[in-house]
Amino acid sequence: MRSLLRRKAIPASHELPEHQRLARTLSWPHLMAMGVGAIVGTGILTLIGVGADRAGPAVLWSFVVAGVICACAALAYAEMATAIPASGSAYTYSYAVLGEVFAWIVGWSLILEYSLVVSTVAVGWSGYANGFLIGLGVHLPDALVQGPTVENGVLTHLGVNLPAVFIIAVVAALLMRGTQESARINTALVVLKLVTLALFVAVAAPHFDAANLQPFAPHGYGSTPGEGGVKYGMLGAAAIIFFAFYGFDAISTAAEEARNPDRDLPIAIVGSMAACTAIYIVVATAAVGALHYTAFGKSAEPLALILRSIGSPGVATVVAGAAVIALPTVILGFLYGQSRIFMVMARDGFLPESLARVSARGVPARITGATALFVAAIAALLPLDLIASLANAGTLCAFVAVALCVLILRRREPEARRAFRTPLAWVVCPVAILGCLYLFTGLQAITQKSFLAWNAAGLVFYLLYARHRSLAGAKAG
Ligand code: ALA
Repeated sequence: MRSLLRRKAIPASHELPEHQRLARTLSWPHLMAMGVGAIVGTGILTLIGVGADRAGPAVLWSFVVAGVICACAALAYAEMATAIPASGSAYTYSYAVLGEVFAWIVGWSLILEYSLVVSTVAVGWSGYANGFLIGLGVHLPDALVQGPTVENGVLTHLGVNLPAVFIIAVVAALLMRGTQESARINTALVVLKLVTLALFVAVAAPHFDAANLQPFAPHGYGSTPGEGGVKYGMLGAAAIIFFAFYGFDAISTAAEEARNPDRDLPIAIVGSMAACTAIYIVVATAAVGALHYTAFGKSAEPLALILRSIGSPGVATVVAGAAVIALPTVILGFLYGQSRIFMVMARDGFLPESLARVSARGVPARITGATALFVAAIAALLPLDLIASLANAGTLCAFVAVALCVLILRRREPEARRAFRTPLAWVVCPVAILGCLYLFTGLQAITQKSFLAWNAAGLVFYLLYARHRSLAGAKAG
């Protein structure tokens, strides 16, 4: 029992062996851009339609609820990231505060979050890119643009999603080249993404019509299961819209690469989260005010559809095109984060240690390549219906763990050094924890069960195998 709860003293980065030390190349504008780049993506561009379909105009409340819960989680992340400024994010904090078995479960949940987001966004990007190629008269065979599909338990299509693999390979190659180079390109794409959303608001807002907000909450404010187990209502939509908000946590995986972590991490984590919440509420209000939700709720490209419907097809094409160019920043942020988390797990002995080695440029190139292979295989081969909501479940678990770590550490080590302190921690962290549990109840039953099955499998794997590879365990004898 004691070995399951053993905690790890996290080494400062200068105590790491030379071959595991990352280059400190990022300052707060890079980190803030990385956060906004990872946050603004499929959620606001696509899931806003799904949310409106499930909640009606009350999806605006879904944005507020998910935003408040994420803001509380972001404050907790900012405190932990400066208290324990090491790569590995929620996994590292849990190892230092809650104990090894919890760290393992959180790490296992983070794989759901980071890997599945990369795969989901790569597959979404593939859909847009394929549409673009068809527009140019290039028709790739179906078997090469879509992974296998299963309907009612029966395999209905066999194929590989090659464009998804391609975009993951491009982003991985960029990350392996250098962190600073990646950050620069990311910043340019983030600016493009924000200009695109501003353009949408500027064109859609003058078409605001209060009649479009009626009926405001056609499915109520809770979560009611409907056809196929889909949950309708404000909470059901919030549990999906939550996808749009996370990504700020990926900044915490850059703790060892920040030039001045004490200052840069809190500014970037809290700043990117606050900025995105404000942007989302404005975009969502413009969207549901410009067109009745029933007209765009089922669309795969809701913002472009709204623009076409209000008579701006040219702007719709610009918005759709900019989305294709800028969406890979989400892949970049999450692939970056997943590779840093795997790197720390390799340092801890849970993955082959040679993977934790950094290249001559101070980049963990091997683990980035290995991570890219892993997520590309998911994107290429797995049916994706479940994946976005499973990523949400994994993220909710990580957020609960981080808020819990803040509270436990405040009790256990009240005098410990913290460059950032969560204001009203005893209110903010419980709101984050209870809010995440509340959102978890809004997920579909199949997602909840798959999440529990994934963690049960992870626990068995830990008990039978990983526990014996733990370097913390080896040191403890
Ligand atoms: N927040 C990210 C997105 O919406 C995961 O794509």
